[in-house]
Amino acid sequence: MIIVDFDFAGICEKEELQTLEKELLSSHNLIVNANGEGKEFLGWRDLPLNNENLSEIKEIASFIRNKSEILVVIGIGGSYLGARAVIEALSSSFESLISKRDNPLVLYAGDNLSEDYMAELLEILKERDYSLCVISKSGTTTEPALAFRILKRALEKKYGEEEAKERIIAITDREKGILRLLAKENGYKSFEIKDDVGGRFSVLTPVGLLPIAVAGFDIEAMMQGAREMRAVLIDNKSISNPAWQYAGFRNLLYSKGKKIDAFLCYQPTLQYFARWWQQLFGESEGKDGKGLFPASLLNTTDLHSMGQYIQDGEKLMIETTLQVKNANKQIEIPFDSNDKDGLNYLLSHTLNQINQIALQATKQAHISGGIPQFIVSVDRINEKTLGALLYFFEFACALSAYTLKVNPFNQPGVETYKNNMFELLGKNK
Ligand code: PA5
Repeated sequence: MIIVDFDFAGICEKEELQTLEKELLSSHNLIVNANGEGKEFLGWRDLPLNNENLSEIKEIASFIRNKSEILVVIGIGGSYLGARAVIEALSSSFESLISKRDNPLVLYAGDNLSEDYMAELLEILKERDYSLCVISKSGTTTEPALAFRILKRALEKKYGEEEAKERIIAITDREKGILRLLAKENGYKSFEIKDDVGGRFSVLTPVGLLPIAVAGFDIEAMMQGAREMRAVLIDNKSISNPAWQYAGFRNLLYSKGKKIDAFLCYQPTLQYFARWWQQLFGESEGKDGKGLFPASLLNTTDLHSMGQYIQDGEKLMIETTLQVKNANKQIEIPFDSNDKDGLNYLLSHTLNQINQIALQATKQAHISGGIPQFIVSVDRINEKTLGALLYFFEFACALSAYTLKVNPFNQPGVETYKNNMFELLGKNK
């Protein structure tokens, strides 16, 4: 179902992975035996085995679907990127322009502080039936808290206080934080985020699954994909484990001076998947003065903007390419009897085949430019393959961070800007 394929030219030989075998084994054991730094945050590891709240999620999703043309997901970082990654990967690139809809449109708030963005969102919501799903593990993050206050007031104004309460779903800690307090006081429908699952590892909990189910996608198939991937990774303590290969080469190449890992995709709908991946690796590895910087690029457009630097600039990069072999939709490239644009030679290919050839050509070019490549391939994008990919990268990320000798599950650096902001805003201690 998911094939993970690697290319690494000249810079690093496959055999070199063996030198990391012992370290990868010890990192793998820290995950399965739960005895490393951050061991209290390993709940994500077994989420695919647990389908216990899927029916409740589906029930609440169907309640929201019946009432709403729009669901506004309010959250930031790990509290929204997973849901957005999956929803956009499975939706039309022009989803917001589709007028005859079977599913609510999912919009996002609380991931920025732009006044224009919020004013424009409020304007759109005036005319439409909507509900709010507010997600914050701590229940205290400023951006989503502020967005929730503003949107809740607008919701109450439109529907009255009682009906507004029916249209709010809170996903937060079981006990701690203001959001749990508000949910209890107002009787919002709510889900809890377990203590042992950190934000960026929470896509397979209600944090990701509820918005995905509201958008009309099959969360059971997603969990099935994650479960199958878990079975491939969890008991294979050898270099044939694709997560070992990925974590191993990232660490090897980092130790040889590479500084950036760029995630490449060839479908615009995968841009948020790339952003989810960026957060996962960035917050998990970037600490103690270490870690590859996770970047993301969308091809082929970025080949015409960043391609020059990548090919000929400083040799800082490695690349992780997500290859989707088949398109879900087909179109025909028209035959032109005049062939004035000289494109008839392409008619033996579909547009997707041309996209695949662009990927192969880029891979060869970048290998010749000294950029090691990891190609992660799936047959096509659907709920099952996305579930598998999410679990693959989560497992590989924890393994890679432990091999780098950092705690994969904390994010102490994020506090610095928050504290400065509170001081500048004069927040009471
Ligand atoms: O991965 C993480 O832990 C972070 O990205 C958090 O998800 C993000 O900071 C939002 O935090 P919270 O869910 O507490 O509002």
